[in-house]
Amino acid sequence: MSKPFNITVLISGGGSNLQAIIDAIDAGQLEHVHLLKVIADRPAGGLERAEKQGIPNELIARKVWRQQLSEKVVAAIPPETDLVVLAGYLSIVGTAILNQFKVINIHPALLPKYGGKGMYGINVHRAVIENKEVESGCTVHYVDAGVDTGEIIAQAKVNVDPSDTPEMLQQRVLIEEHRLLPKVLALLATSISL
Ligand code: GRF
Repeated sequence: MSKPFNITVLISGGGSNLQAIIDAIDAGQLEHVHLLKVIADRPAGGLERAEKQGIPNELIARKVWRQQLSEKVVAAIPPETDLVVLAGYLSIVGTAILNQFKVINIHPALLPKYGGKGMYGINVHRAVIENKEVESGCTVHYVDAGVDTGEIIAQAKVNVDPSDTPEMLQQRVLIEEHRLLPKVLALLATSISL
């Protein structure tokens, strides 16, 4: 039997990307991937999804821990984790985490465009529409010490329609995110278990 590819997922919100990972595992599409734990930095709907599936989960509130958040989170990540997946995690990932783990993130735009400080959630899609882009999409990338600057692993594109509202675009991009993230996990899991 090949070695499991252990992941820990960090979230801040509804966790639809987390759900996409759970669904892909359940559907047998991520054969070696084992979801060890879900950690949230604020009360998040995604924690309930984890709980429902019987996946260990923990809330480490940024409001409580502030400057010590990274240290608290790194201590909560199971040491046997092969990959930390940021799936809508809004806190900055400190060097404490980066020094110890390989980390990837999903971003709702075609990086390097529309990344960096303030470029999260609906802000991204608003900016894309304001700039009259004809395409947008999502990016899975490695996380480094910058904001949205790490090496790009994969992207998926969507067309931007002139009649799109930011919310419409967000929904369309999210559908692609749910496809792309499990695909990347399958790829990374295979490359390490070869
Ligand atoms: C996604 O758009 C992701 O790209 C961004 O945050 C959002 C999280 O959505 N980083 P969800 O919590 O997975 O539904």
